[in-house]
Amino acid sequence: KRVAILISGGGSNMVRLAEDMIDDHPARPVLVLSNVPDAGGLAKARALGIPTEVVNHRDFKGDREGFEKALISTIDPYEPDVLALAGFMRILTSEFVGHYAGRMLNIHPSLLPKYKGLHTHTRAIDAGDTEAGCSVHEVTAELDGGPILGQARVPVVAGDTEDSLSARVLVQEHGLYPAVLRRFVSGDRSPVLLP
Ligand code: GRF
Repeated sequence: KRVAILISGGGSNMVRLAEDMIDDHPARPVLVLSNVPDAGGLAKARALGIPTEVVNHRDFKGDREGFEKALISTIDPYEPDVLALAGFMRILTSEFVGHYAGRMLNIHPSLLPKYKGLHTHTRAIDAGDTEAGCSVHEVTAELDGGPILGQARVPVVAGDTEDSLSARVLVQEHGLYPAVLRRFVSGDRSPVLLP
């Protein structure tokens, strides 16, 4: 199976996904694409020998449809079977989602359906939650909606800040996403629930 990974930043999730797709793993990374030209993850992808592309959303000011058409025309020549959004920070329309229906995943740093959208860790802390975590889900037109394919839980401890909680969750993301992708490319949709 051929996996394209979309990033916007440091790409730590992308690195863990790529590092897991070796040996008898049924999938290989065929592309890392960023909407941010100088995203740190692009250098990491190149160091891993993965082809990279940039489609800069700033080149399509206000033209979401044009941006997504450029994404598709850049991605599809790599013939991916699966798209993995990993720290990709652009909202995608139902047209784009429909083009990759049933084969696009995303990781979100909350225990969905709680805290869709941004600032998830601050919201969990402010709500006095005693646990937080991350979710991998199939991408549908509804932002951070779609069937849950995996979740990992962490405790929220007294004195936690957004930084301390996000660091604790990120460690779990790095274990969860590769585990979910392995099942997904094998056709197994049973949820990965950690710990
Ligand atoms: C992570 O918190 C992830 O949950 C969110 O983007 C953040 C950065 O991820 N989707 P990465 O280091 O760029 O993979």
